[in-house]
Amino acid sequence: MRVLVTGGAGFIGSYICEQLLEKGYEVVVLDNLDPQIHGEQASWPTYMPEGTENHIGDVRDRELVRKLLAKTDAVIHLAAAVGVGQSMYKIEHYCSVSVMGTAILLEEILRVKDRIKKLIVASSMSIYGEGEYVNDKGGRVFPASRPLSQLKEGIWELLDSDRKVLKPIQVTEEKPLKPDSIYAINKRDQEEMCLAFGRAYEIPTVAFRMFNVFGARQALGNPYTGVVAIFSNKLLQDEAPMVFEDGHQKRDFVHVEDVARAYIMALESSSVDGYALNLGSGDSISVLEIAKTLANVMNKNITPVVTGKYRDGDIRHCFANIDLIKEKLGWEPKYTFENGVRTLLDWLKSESGIKTKNDSFEELKKMGLLK
Ligand code: UD1
Repeated sequence: MRVLVTGGAGFIGSYICEQLLEKGYEVVVLDNLDPQIHGEQASWPTYMPEGTENHIGDVRDRELVRKLLAKTDAVIHLAAAVGVGQSMYKIEHYCSVSVMGTAILLEEILRVKDRIKKLIVASSMSIYGEGEYVNDKGGRVFPASRPLSQLKEGIWELLDSDRKVLKPIQVTEEKPLKPDSIYAINKRDQEEMCLAFGRAYEIPTVAFRMFNVFGARQALGNPYTGVVAIFSNKLLQDEAPMVFEDGHQKRDFVHVEDVARAYIMALESSSVDGYALNLGSGDSISVLEIAKTLANVMNKNITPVVTGKYRDGDIRHCFANIDLIKEKLGWEPKYTFENGVRTLLDWLKSESGIKTKNDSFEELKKMGLLK
């Protein structure tokens, strides 16, 4: 079976390719080697596994996509522009790469639809907007994002109409979608476009709503990369991580190898066809706890700086309920946060990129995204 992986040279894609190869699949990668992620030299990352058939190109290049689909049996669609803050000013670029890219891919899949046995699309927890909460009467609520006036006062938690603090709980797939950034809107579009297309043409299709994925190979120089990569990079250079808000905001960190395994399982099973599934660890951890765990594991006596600043478009809490994926796919994570962090640190120590400069803080300030 030949699998096309769009965006296959990225952090998550490379692990999916690796696990596909281990299972004997033929793997074709289409990736534009975006300089923001891969650096200016635009060469294939050294972490790419041996044995993939690699093509540099854009997912909006219809001729190329057609050529690559000619002998393909399944498609894993990861190609997208990635960066929540950046999506708020490079709007055309984000919509074009993510939405038009998906549109072109789907039109081309349609031409060979009888051969495509599976389509899996990378969606994101960002499409939920804020997570799920309960009020003091125990009722489930889906609050809107915090108003700017509240953030300006430094009141970080979600409040109900009586200004009582709401308690965060795990997010289920039933939660109404409230994407809050152009990136999130694009992710929702990608998910819904693929699922609607799959239903209409009876192509088994699955969407994974990934939570905060972490692990080795995450781009370190990209100012829009994830918080674990940003903090690890800082600590390795003996600098203090800069924590936004009060640091008590919670996320769900799922290890990249666990994530890749879910993709392979979905490829090989029909039990989740037509579903959009949370792909997280089911655990939650605060940003301050992340900084402290990383410092501990790295043996650094560095205290994070709690800035009291806030990032435009940030949600307060979001962590996954993973009952559906466990029940339907039989998947569950193998890594804990701490074990996962060790894989990242081993990689960082062996990487020549250790000293990669990452001024995400300065970049956000420059772009007016940090208040
Ligand atoms: C966002 C998206 C997610 C996407 C990911 C990577 C949302 C809700 N989620 O996740 O779908 O996959 O980006 O693009 O839009 N933080 C600091 N200091 C820093 C950096 C971050 O305190 O230097 C905090 C942030 O304010 C946030 C948390 O760490 O509270 C996580 O941030 P990040 O890793 O960027 O991921 P999300 O915003 O959760």
